[in-house]
Amino acid sequence: MSIIQFSSWLDKYRAVNKDTICTVYDKEATAFDEAIGTLSSEAHTMTVTTLNELVLDKNSKILDFAACTGLLGTKIHGIGYTNIDAFDGSHACIEECKKRDGTYTQFISEFVTDAAPLSVATDTYDVVVCSGGFTINHLPISVLSKWIRIVKPGGYVINTFRNRWKDLEPMYNEGKFDNEVQRLEKEQKWTFVRKQYSDPENYHTCYVMHVHKVL
Ligand SMILES: C[S@@+](CC[C@H](N)C(=O)[O-])C[C@H]1O[C@@H](n2cnc3c(N)ncnc32)[C@H](O)[C@@H]1O
Repeated sequence: MSIIQFSSWLDKYRAVNKDTICTVYDKEATAFDEAIGTLSSEAHTMTVTTLNELVLDKNSKILDFAACTGLLGTKIHGIGYTNIDAFDGSHACIEECKKRDGTYTQFISEFVTDAAPLSVATDTYDVVVCSGGFTINHLPISVLSKWIRIVKPGGYVINTFRNRWKDLEPMYNEGKFDNEVQRLEKEQKWTFVRKQYSDPENYHTCYVMHVHKVL
């Protein structure tokens, strides 16, 4: 994909707002993999490598949050995990996930807001993974505490996104994202496991992965 294609995709995100972001994906779900999906392979590799290193049971119940079309889920399934659910606010994306035979067990089409709790029951998952869920007009930072509620004590949250959005997206900038991560650490809702950059020399544009263990 060219820089021009990538920036035109970002323009689509900017043309809507955090309440309507999933309309972009409803329109573009079938184009996503070819247009932008391949750009995320580094983020997927970081997540899959971390799952391998955590040495979890292959039946662990995993929620692929902001699953989009299911590219990450396919890779997690590819390393042997058999109990993965897909969550996304775009109905069209969830339909794409359903086409990935055998990858996912359950499908949750639900839009995340600050106000409403997730419909998922407390202590349901061993792991929540999220790749690319934090970008322009995407997930609110309140989702972090929502994840903690739905992950079992001792389970993990693996959250990967491009580092620059911490500075460029008003929902996360001026320390809002990092402050919320640290608040949850101080309040002993979760404990820090790992923070990793895909390319520390290109700190601003590379991916950052945050891994936490839920307490
Ligand atoms: C960049 S895509 C994620 C890519 C995917 N995880 C992957 O690795 O290929 C972002 C996804 O977040 C979803 N999303 C954005 N804001 C959301 C919200 N507030 N609630 C639920 N889903 C949301 C979009 O529908 C979209 O599918």
